[in-house]
Amino acid sequence: MLILNKTAGVFFKPSRRKIYAFLGSFHFHPGKLFLHKLVLGIETSCDDTAAAVVDEAGNVLGEAIHSQTEVHLKTGGIIPPVAQQLHRENIQRVQEALSASEVSPSELSAIATTIKPGLALSLGVGLSFSLQLVDQFKKPFIPIHHMEAHALTIRLTNKVEFPFLVLLISGGHCLLALVRGVSDFLLLGKSLDIAPGDMLDKVARRLSLIKHPECSTMSGGKAIEHLAKQGNRLHFDFQPPMQRAKNCDFSFSGLQHVIDKMIMQKEKEEGIEQGQVLSSAADIAAAAQHTVACHIAKRTHRALLFCKQRGFLRQSNTVLVVSGGVASNLYIRKALEIVTSATQCTLLCPPPRLCTDNGVMIAWNGVERLRAGLGILHNTEGIRYEPKCPLGVDISKEVGEAAIKVPRLKMKI
Ligand code: KG4
Ligand code: ZN
Repeated sequence: MLILNKTAGVFFKPSRRKIYAFLGSFHFHPGKLFLHKLVLGIETSCDDTAAAVVDEAGNVLGEAIHSQTEVHLKTGGIIPPVAQQLHRENIQRVQEALSASEVSPSELSAIATTIKPGLALSLGVGLSFSLQLVDQFKKPFIPIHHMEAHALTIRLTNKVEFPFLVLLISGGHCLLALVRGVSDFLLLGKSLDIAPGDMLDKVARRLSLIKHPECSTMSGGKAIEHLAKQGNRLHFDFQPPMQRAKNCDFSFSGLQHVIDKMIMQKEKEEGIEQGQVLSSAADIAAAAQHTVACHIAKRTHRALLFCKQRGFLRQSNTVLVVSGGVASNLYIRKALEIVTSATQCTLLCPPPRLCTDNGVMIAWNGVERLRAGLGILHNTEGIRYEPKCPLGVDISKEVGEAAIKVPRLKMKI
């Protein structure tokens, strides 16, 4: 917004604070603020301490994030009490997001915080900090389901109407869901064991990629993607999991064990100790990534066919949203593009910084819930975090019973 400064005869850009004071001065409907919903979002469900202030139009007014990845990379995985301590040390960054936004807490419409699912010790830090703010500033509280927030993020960046299909793939999540409304989800399938990011992290660790000069600072998944470009996937033949199960569930731990065994065999063949990088590491990375991509693509293809068959998704302008840390993998994205072009769908991914855990998605979920009038609490008595919490109504059994045969697609990536 530019305002003409009459005395100086020039245009100047007022601060956000002034814009909001200006907008807040309009009350077209008694008791309602126009154009003026501002939500503070707080996220601590796993290993990121994040906060953001977002307005109703999806503008990110202020943001702060502290990632614990580096610490957890060194210990070879997340140790919950360590994560909790790091959240405690960094939760004050919420203040940074607020200061950057130039919005005072009293101007907020609500405070939204992830309360489920996640690591108990991590969720607890964000929740108790939020409840103090809620109490101090007498604001409504919006408890957020972490997966719902991931799924709705695309509506901040793109014009996407309900219903759409969402695939969430990261280090901690793996699910396919039909999104029918802000808090109206049908769960079509999920991982029966670990998530794909977790599997790629484990394979990368077993390959000691942290010792590889090009990969030492990368997350496991990113290291696999990077190294795979230099490898030949055809040197190894790993079978995609669950080929006989005609449902939309996933499994990655069996594949991980097969790859582990192969690594052990190669170490013997090459006469090297565990902890050294194999000469065939790039080929193994390429084959592992390809198999994961095929597995994810096949389950997603079945989910699209199921939803279309049941009339759950429009026949045209169908949207598949892919998010989560693993969604930044371009090889996996290409595999999914093969599926979407075969089914006349559009593939959409939020930008990488919004695919991974962040405060913006929590604040935006708060905005969506405020607009829909859903789950806004004026009394927080009895509110608890929930480490385990399914997303929506689980119809994965029905999906399996439909036993949809998925046409074979050539995965030439
Ligand atoms: O969403 P995220 O930051 O955190 C959660 O797990 O919730 O995702 C992190 C995961 C890690 O497992 C990491 O290895 C994986 O995403 N990842 C990738 C890539 N970048 C990050 N996996 C495959 N390819 C990538 N380029
Ligand atoms: Zn997440």
